[in-house]
Amino acid sequence: MPDAAAVAPRAAVRLRFEDRSYECLPSETVLQALLRHGIEVPYSCRTGACLTCLMRARRGAPPASAQKGLKETWQAQGYFLPCLCEPAEDLDLARPDDAAVFGRARVVAVEPLAPGVRRVLLEPAVALYYRAGQFINLRRADGLTRSYSIASVPHLDRYLELHVKRLPGGIMSNWICDGLRTGAPVDIQGPHGSSFYVPGRSEQPMLLIGNGTGLAPLLGILRDGLHDGHRGPIRLYHGSRHAEGLYLADELRALAARSPNFGYVPCLSGPDVAPGYRAGRAEAVAFADLPQLAGWRVFLCGYPPMVHAARKQAYLAGASLEDIHADPFELRDLRRTPRN
Ligand SMILES: Cc1cc2nc3c(=O)[nH]c(=O)nc-3n(C[C@H](O)[C@H](O)[C@H](O)COP(=O)(O)OP(=O)(O)OC[C@H]3O[C@@H](n4cnc5c(N)ncnc54)[C@H](O)[C@@H]3O)c2cc1C
Ligand code: FES
Repeated sequence: MPDAAAVAPRAAVRLRFEDRSYECLPSETVLQALLRHGIEVPYSCRTGACLTCLMRARRGAPPASAQKGLKETWQAQGYFLPCLCEPAEDLDLARPDDAAVFGRARVVAVEPLAPGVRRVLLEPAVALYYRAGQFINLRRADGLTRSYSIASVPHLDRYLELHVKRLPGGIMSNWICDGLRTGAPVDIQGPHGSSFYVPGRSEQPMLLIGNGTGLAPLLGILRDGLHDGHRGPIRLYHGSRHAEGLYLADELRALAARSPNFGYVPCLSGPDVAPGYRAGRAEAVAFADLPQLAGWRVFLCGYPPMVHAARKQAYLAGASLEDIHADPFELRDLRRTPRN
Protein backbone atom coordinates (compact mmCIF):
# COMPACT_ATOMS: atom_id res chain seq x y z
CA MET A 1 0.00 0.00 0.00
CA PRO A 2 1.40 3.45 -0.83
CA ASP A 3 1.93 5.73 2.12
CA ALA A 4 -1.16 7.98 2.33
CA ALA A 5 1.01 11.00 3.11
CA ALA A 6 3.09 10.36 -0.02
CA VAL A 7 0.08 10.46 -2.36
CA ALA A 8 -1.90 13.23 -0.64
CA PRO A 9 -2.00 16.43 -2.72
CA ARG A 10 0.08 19.13 -1.15
CA ALA A 11 -1.62 22.04 0.50
CA ALA A 12 -1.59 25.59 -0.80
CA VAL A 13 1.38 27.55 0.57
CA ARG A 14 2.24 31.25 0.85
CA LEU A 15 4.96 32.95 -1.15
CA ARG A 16 6.40 36.13 0.28
CA PHE A 17 7.99 38.35 -2.37
CA GLU A 18 8.95 42.01 -2.27
CA ASP A 19 6.89 42.79 0.85
CA ARG A 20 3.71 41.07 -0.32
CA SER A 21 2.30 37.61 0.19
CA TYR A 22 0.77 35.42 -2.54
CA GLU A 23 -0.99 32.07 -2.52
CA CYS A 24 0.59 29.19 -4.44
CA LEU A 25 -2.12 26.63 -5.16
CA PRO A 26 -1.61 22.87 -4.92
CA SER A 27 0.05 21.56 -8.12
CA GLU A 28 1.02 25.10 -9.11
CA THR A 29 4.70 25.96 -9.53
CA VAL A 30 6.18 29.07 -7.94
CA LEU A 31 6.55 30.57 -11.43
CA GLN A 32 2.93 29.87 -12.33
CA ALA A 33 1.74 31.39 -9.06
CA LEU A 34 3.80 34.57 -9.50
CA LEU A 35 2.63 35.00 -13.10
CA ARG A 36 -0.98 34.36 -12.08
CA HIS A 37 -0.66 37.18 -9.58
CA GLY A 38 0.72 39.46 -12.29
CA ILE A 39 4.29 39.57 -10.96
CA GLU A 40 6.95 40.31 -13.59
CA VAL A 41 9.77 37.82 -13.17
CA PRO A 42 12.16 36.62 -15.88
CA TYR A 43 11.58 33.18 -17.39
CA SER A 44 11.85 31.46 -20.72
CA CYS A 45 11.65 27.67 -21.20
CA ARG A 46 9.64 26.57 -18.11
CA THR A 47 11.29 23.16 -18.35
CA GLY A 48 14.39 23.69 -16.21
CA ALA A 49 16.62 23.98 -19.29
CA CYS A 50 17.56 27.68 -19.36
CA LEU A 51 17.96 28.82 -15.71
CA THR A 52 16.52 32.20 -16.69
CA CYS A 53 13.94 32.04 -13.87
CA LEU A 54 16.53 31.51 -11.09
CA MET A 55 15.38 32.83 -7.67
CA ARG A 56 16.51 32.52 -4.06
CA ALA A 57 14.54 31.25 -1.07
CA ARG A 58 15.56 33.36 1.93
CA ARG A 59 13.34 31.30 4.22
CA GLY A 60 11.79 27.90 3.61
CA ALA A 61 13.29 24.99 1.70
CA PRO A 62 12.54 24.52 -2.01
CA PRO A 63 12.27 20.83 -3.00
CA ALA A 64 15.52 19.18 -4.15
CA SER A 65 13.98 18.63 -7.61
CA ALA A 66 13.90 22.43 -8.09
CA GLN A 67 17.63 22.72 -7.29
CA LYS A 68 18.86 19.80 -9.40
CA GLY A 69 21.83 20.68 -11.58
CA LEU A 70 22.53 24.01 -9.84
CA LYS A 71 25.99 24.64 -8.42
CA GLU A 72 26.33 23.38 -4.85
CA THR A 73 27.18 26.88 -3.61
CA TRP A 74 23.99 28.19 -5.18
CA GLN A 75 21.95 25.34 -3.68
CA ALA A 76 23.39 26.13 -0.27
CA GLN A 77 22.34 29.77 -0.68
CA GLY A 78 18.76 28.71 -1.44
CA TYR A 79 18.81 29.23 -5.22
CA PHE A 80 16.22 27.20 -7.11
CA LEU A 81 14.24 27.14 -10.37
CA PRO A 82 10.68 28.48 -9.84
CA CYS A 83 9.45 26.79 -13.04
CA LEU A 84 10.20 23.38 -11.47
CA CYS A 85 9.27 24.25 -7.91
CA GLU A 86 6.05 22.93 -6.39
CA PRO A 87 6.75 24.08 -2.85
CA ALA A 88 5.83 21.94 0.15
CA GLU A 89 6.15 24.85 2.57
CA ASP A 90 5.91 28.64 2.66
CA LEU A 91 8.80 30.39 0.91
CA ASP A 92 10.25 33.83 1.34
CA LEU A 93 11.53 34.69 -2.15
CA ALA A 94 14.17 37.06 -3.44
CA ARG A 95 15.47 37.91 -6.89
CA PRO A 96 19.01 36.56 -7.46
CA ASP A 97 21.87 38.54 -6.02
CA ASP A 98 23.22 40.18 -9.17
CA ALA A 99 26.83 40.25 -8.08
CA ALA A 100 26.73 36.55 -7.20
CA VAL A 101 25.17 35.17 -10.37
CA PHE A 102 25.88 37.67 -13.17
CA GLY A 103 29.15 38.93 -14.61
CA ARG A 104 29.94 41.68 -17.08
CA ALA A 105 31.15 41.20 -20.65
CA ARG A 106 31.99 43.53 -23.54
CA VAL A 107 30.76 42.91 -27.06
CA VAL A 108 33.81 42.51 -29.31
CA ALA A 109 31.97 41.82 -32.58
CA VAL A 110 28.55 41.06 -34.02
CA GLU A 111 29.01 39.76 -37.55
CA PRO A 112 26.91 37.83 -40.07
CA LEU A 113 27.57 34.09 -40.35
CA ALA A 114 24.66 33.32 -42.67
CA PRO A 115 21.38 35.03 -43.57
CA GLY A 116 19.63 35.49 -40.21
CA VAL A 117 22.53 34.16 -38.14
CA ARG A 118 25.02 36.36 -36.24
CA ARG A 119 28.30 35.45 -34.63
CA VAL A 120 28.66 37.34 -31.35
CA LEU A 121 32.08 37.61 -29.73
CA LEU A 122 32.20 38.58 -26.06
CA GLU A 123 35.05 39.42 -23.74
CA PRO A 124 34.11 38.68 -20.12
CA ALA A 125 35.44 41.22 -17.62
CA VAL A 126 36.62 38.34 -15.45
CA ALA A 127 37.89 35.12 -17.08
CA LEU A 128 35.03 32.66 -17.46
CA TYR A 129 35.82 29.00 -16.77
CA TYR A 130 33.66 27.03 -19.15
CA ARG A 131 33.63 23.86 -21.23
CA ALA A 132 33.02 24.01 -24.97
CA GLY A 133 29.37 23.13 -25.55
CA GLN A 134 27.97 24.70 -22.38
CA PHE A 135 25.71 27.73 -22.53
CA ILE A 136 25.45 31.15 -20.94
CA ASN A 137 22.52 33.41 -20.21
CA LEU A 138 22.77 36.81 -21.83
CA ARG A 139 20.92 39.67 -20.14
CA ARG A 140 19.97 42.97 -21.75
CA ALA A 141 19.97 46.18 -19.69
CA ASP A 142 16.17 45.94 -19.21
CA GLY A 143 16.47 42.43 -17.75
CA LEU A 144 15.44 40.43 -20.84
CA THR A 145 17.43 37.21 -20.61
CA ARG A 146 17.96 34.33 -23.04
CA SER A 147 20.31 31.35 -23.26
CA TYR A 148 22.98 30.92 -25.93
CA SER A 149 25.38 28.03 -26.44
CA ILE A 150 29.10 28.57 -26.47
CA ALA A 151 30.81 27.80 -29.79
CA SER A 152 34.33 28.69 -28.65
CA VAL A 153 36.87 26.51 -26.86
CA PRO A 154 38.43 28.06 -23.75
CA HIS A 155 42.03 26.99 -24.39
CA LEU A 156 41.89 27.76 -28.15
CA ASP A 157 39.90 30.98 -28.44
CA ARG A 158 40.36 34.39 -26.88
CA TYR A 159 36.70 35.39 -26.95
CA LEU A 160 33.45 33.73 -26.01
CA GLU A 161 31.63 32.96 -29.27
CA LEU A 162 27.85 32.65 -29.69
CA HIS A 163 25.77 31.95 -32.82
CA VAL A 164 22.37 33.64 -32.69
CA LYS A 165 19.55 32.92 -35.12
CA ARG A 166 17.01 35.65 -35.79
CA LEU A 167 13.49 34.38 -35.01
CA PRO A 168 10.53 36.14 -36.60
CA GLY A 169 8.99 38.18 -33.77
CA GLY A 170 11.71 37.09 -31.31
CA ILE A 171 12.61 39.94 -28.95
CA MET A 172 16.17 39.09 -27.95
CA SER A 173 17.37 37.55 -31.22
CA ASN A 174 16.19 40.56 -33.27
CA TRP A 175 17.80 42.93 -30.82
CA ILE A 176 21.08 41.00 -31.01
CA CYS A 177 20.96 41.00 -34.83
CA ASP A 178 20.00 44.67 -35.22
CA GLY A 179 20.70 46.53 -31.98
CA LEU A 180 23.73 45.01 -30.29
CA ARG A 181 26.84 47.06 -31.01
CA THR A 182 30.56 46.45 -30.66
CA GLY A 183 31.80 47.80 -27.34
CA ALA A 184 28.41 47.49 -25.60
CA PRO A 185 28.33 45.98 -22.12
CA VAL A 186 26.09 42.96 -21.48
CA ASP A 187 25.49 40.80 -18.43
CA ILE A 188 26.26 37.11 -18.62
CA GLN A 189 25.43 34.26 -16.31
CA GLY A 190 26.93 30.81 -16.35
CA PRO A 191 28.36 28.69 -17.75
CA HIS A 192 25.56 26.17 -17.44
CA GLY A 193 24.85 22.76 -18.91
CA SER A 194 26.42 19.34 -18.91
CA SER A 195 26.66 18.71 -22.65
CA PHE A 196 30.40 18.99 -23.34
CA TYR A 197 33.41 16.94 -24.35
CA VAL A 198 34.98 14.99 -21.51
CA PRO A 199 38.57 13.87 -22.18
CA GLY A 200 39.28 10.15 -21.95
CA ARG A 201 37.96 7.15 -23.86
CA SER A 202 39.71 8.70 -26.84
CA GLU A 203 38.92 5.73 -29.13
CA GLN A 204 35.18 6.10 -28.57
CA PRO A 205 33.21 7.00 -31.72
CA MET A 206 31.24 10.24 -31.44
CA LEU A 207 28.09 11.27 -33.28
CA LEU A 208 27.15 14.97 -33.37
CA ILE A 209 23.74 15.98 -34.74
CA GLY A 210 22.47 19.57 -34.86
CA ASN A 211 20.22 21.79 -36.88
CA GLY A 212 20.46 25.55 -37.38
CA THR A 213 22.48 27.22 -34.65
CA GLY A 214 22.57 23.84 -32.93
CA LEU A 215 25.92 23.80 -34.70
CA ALA A 216 27.34 26.25 -32.13
CA PRO A 217 27.89 23.88 -29.19
CA LEU A 218 28.79 21.03 -31.55
CA LEU A 219 31.55 23.12 -33.10
CA GLY A 220 33.06 23.68 -29.66
CA ILE A 221 32.74 20.01 -28.72
CA LEU A 222 34.27 18.93 -32.05
CA ARG A 223 37.26 21.29 -31.85
CA ASP A 224 37.79 20.46 -28.18
CA GLY A 225 37.81 16.72 -28.96
CA LEU A 226 40.16 17.06 -31.93
CA HIS A 227 42.51 19.30 -29.95
CA ASP A 228 42.49 16.80 -27.10
CA GLY A 229 43.69 14.12 -29.54
CA HIS A 230 40.44 12.19 -29.76
CA ARG A 231 41.24 9.25 -32.04
CA GLY A 232 37.85 7.57 -32.53
CA PRO A 233 35.69 8.56 -35.50
CA ILE A 234 33.74 11.82 -35.08
CA ARG A 235 30.75 12.31 -37.38
CA LEU A 236 29.00 15.70 -37.56
CA TYR A 237 25.56 15.88 -39.23
CA HIS A 238 24.39 19.48 -39.64
CA GLY A 239 20.90 20.06 -40.96
CA SER A 240 19.01 22.97 -42.48
CA ARG A 241 16.26 23.48 -45.00
CA HIS A 242 18.40 25.64 -47.29
CA ALA A 243 22.12 25.49 -48.14
CA GLU A 244 22.78 29.00 -46.74
CA GLY A 245 21.62 27.73 -43.33
CA LEU A 246 24.57 25.33 -43.29
CA TYR A 247 26.94 28.07 -42.26
CA LEU A 248 30.66 27.36 -41.82
CA ALA A 249 30.32 24.51 -44.35
CA ASP A 250 33.56 25.43 -46.13
CA GLU A 251 35.49 25.62 -42.86
CA LEU A 252 34.06 22.26 -41.73
CA ARG A 253 34.89 20.62 -45.08
CA ALA A 254 38.45 21.94 -44.75
CA LEU A 255 38.68 20.65 -41.18
CA ALA A 256 37.44 17.23 -42.33
CA ALA A 257 40.04 17.19 -45.12
CA ARG A 258 42.88 17.61 -42.62
CA SER A 259 41.43 15.46 -39.79
CA PRO A 260 41.34 11.80 -40.84
CA ASN A 261 38.93 10.77 -38.05
CA PHE A 262 36.43 13.60 -38.64
CA GLY A 263 33.56 13.39 -41.14
CA TYR A 264 31.22 16.30 -41.92
CA VAL A 265 27.79 15.56 -43.42
CA PRO A 266 25.76 18.64 -44.44
CA CYS A 267 22.07 17.72 -44.83
CA LEU A 268 19.30 19.62 -46.61
CA SER A 269 15.65 18.95 -45.82
CA GLY A 270 14.28 21.38 -48.45
CA PRO A 271 13.46 20.51 -52.06
CA ASP A 272 16.77 21.75 -53.58
CA VAL A 273 19.70 19.50 -52.80
CA ALA A 274 22.89 20.49 -54.61
CA PRO A 275 25.78 18.06 -55.14
CA GLY A 276 27.90 17.73 -51.98
CA TYR A 277 24.86 17.70 -49.68
CA ARG A 278 22.75 14.82 -48.39
CA ALA A 279 18.96 14.94 -48.77
CA GLY A 280 16.87 14.73 -45.61
CA ARG A 281 16.84 15.90 -42.02
CA ALA A 282 20.18 15.60 -40.25
CA GLU A 283 18.96 13.07 -37.69
CA ALA A 284 17.27 10.90 -40.34
CA VAL A 285 20.43 10.82 -42.48
CA ALA A 286 22.60 10.11 -39.42
CA PHE A 287 20.50 7.21 -38.15
CA ALA A 288 20.28 5.73 -41.66
CA ASP A 289 24.10 5.85 -41.94
CA LEU A 290 24.69 4.65 -38.37
CA PRO A 291 21.92 2.27 -37.30
CA GLN A 292 24.05 0.70 -34.51
CA LEU A 293 25.25 3.13 -31.86
CA ALA A 294 26.33 0.78 -29.06
CA GLY A 295 29.47 2.31 -27.56
CA TRP A 296 29.00 5.71 -29.26
CA ARG A 297 28.98 9.08 -27.52
CA VAL A 298 26.11 11.15 -28.95
CA PHE A 299 25.53 14.94 -28.83
CA LEU A 300 22.18 16.39 -30.00
CA CYS A 301 21.62 20.14 -30.21
CA GLY A 302 19.09 22.60 -31.57
CA TYR A 303 15.40 22.39 -32.40
CA PRO A 304 13.74 20.74 -29.35
CA PRO A 305 11.43 18.25 -31.17
CA MET A 306 14.43 16.98 -33.15
CA VAL A 307 16.58 16.69 -30.03
CA HIS A 308 13.91 14.83 -28.02
CA ALA A 309 13.10 12.41 -30.86
CA ALA A 310 16.76 11.80 -31.68
CA ARG A 311 17.57 11.10 -28.03
CA LYS A 312 15.02 8.26 -28.06
CA GLN A 313 16.29 6.97 -31.38
CA ALA A 314 19.94 7.03 -30.27
CA TYR A 315 18.99 5.01 -27.20
CA LEU A 316 17.03 2.51 -29.29
CA ALA A 317 20.05 2.23 -31.60
CA GLY A 318 22.13 1.07 -28.62
CA ALA A 319 23.80 4.19 -27.20
CA SER A 320 23.75 4.15 -23.40
CA LEU A 321 21.83 6.93 -21.66
CA GLU A 322 24.93 8.35 -19.96
CA ASP A 323 26.57 8.69 -23.38
CA ILE A 324 23.69 10.71 -24.87
CA HIS A 325 24.02 14.47 -24.32
CA ALA A 326 21.03 16.52 -25.40
CA ASP A 327 20.84 20.29 -25.59
CA PRO A 328 17.36 21.35 -26.77
CA PHE A 329 17.13 25.08 -27.56
CA GLU A 330 13.82 25.52 -25.75
CA LEU A 331 12.05 28.75 -26.69
CA ARG A 332 10.04 30.90 -24.35
CA ASP A 333 6.93 29.03 -23.30
CA LEU A 334 4.10 31.54 -23.29
CA ARG A 335 1.45 29.19 -21.96
CA ARG A 336 0.07 29.47 -18.45
CA THR A 337 0.72 25.76 -17.79
CA PRO A 338 4.09 24.19 -18.54
CA ARG A 339 4.80 21.54 -21.14
CA ASN A 340 4.42 17.91 -20.04
C1 LIG B 1 20.10 25.86 -23.32
C2 LIG B 1 19.70 26.73 -24.50
C3 LIG B 1 20.67 27.06 -25.45
C4 LIG B 1 20.32 27.85 -26.55
N1 LIG B 1 21.29 28.15 -27.47
C5 LIG B 1 20.96 28.90 -28.54
C6 LIG B 1 21.97 29.21 -29.52
O1 LIG B 1 23.16 28.83 -29.40
N2 LIG B 1 21.59 29.97 -30.59
C7 LIG B 1 20.30 30.42 -30.75
O2 LIG B 1 20.04 31.09 -31.77
N3 LIG B 1 19.33 30.13 -29.83
C8 LIG B 1 19.64 29.41 -28.73
N4 LIG B 1 18.68 29.15 -27.79
C9 LIG B 1 17.33 29.79 -27.92
C10 LIG B 1 17.41 31.21 -27.28
O3 LIG B 1 17.60 31.11 -25.87
C11 LIG B 1 16.15 32.06 -27.49
O4 LIG B 1 15.03 31.32 -27.05
C12 LIG B 1 15.97 32.47 -28.93
O5 LIG B 1 17.06 33.31 -29.33
C13 LIG B 1 14.65 33.24 -29.13
O6 LIG B 1 14.62 34.31 -28.24
P1 LIG B 1 13.84 35.64 -28.65
O7 LIG B 1 13.81 36.52 -27.45
O8 LIG B 1 14.36 36.18 -29.91
O9 LIG B 1 12.41 35.07 -28.96
P2 LIG B 1 11.10 35.22 -28.00
O10 LIG B 1 10.68 36.63 -27.94
O11 LIG B 1 11.38 34.51 -26.74
O12 LIG B 1 10.05 34.43 -28.87
C14 LIG B 1 10.22 33.04 -29.21
C15 LIG B 1 9.23 32.66 -30.29
O13 LIG B 1 7.92 32.84 -29.80
C16 LIG B 1 7.21 33.72 -30.62
N5 LIG B 1 6.39 34.64 -29.81
C17 LIG B 1 6.88 35.52 -28.88
N6 LIG B 1 5.86 36.18 -28.31
C18 LIG B 1 4.71 35.71 -28.88
C19 LIG B 1 3.34 35.96 -28.71
N7 LIG B 1 2.90 36.86 -27.81
N8 LIG B 1 2.46 35.25 -29.43
C20 LIG B 1 2.87 34.32 -30.31
N9 LIG B 1 4.17 34.02 -30.52
C21 LIG B 1 5.06 34.70 -29.83
C22 LIG B 1 8.23 34.52 -31.38
O14 LIG B 1 7.73 34.93 -32.63
C23 LIG B 1 9.36 33.55 -31.52
O15 LIG B 1 9.23 32.76 -32.66
C24 LIG B 1 18.99 28.34 -26.69
C25 LIG B 1 18.03 28.00 -25.73
C26 LIG B 1 18.37 27.22 -24.65
C27 LIG B 1 17.32 26.87 -23.62
S1 FES C 1 14.69 27.05 -16.24
FE1 FES C 1 12.92 28.05 -15.50
S2 FES C 1 12.21 29.15 -17.21
FE2 FES C 1 13.90 28.02 -18.02
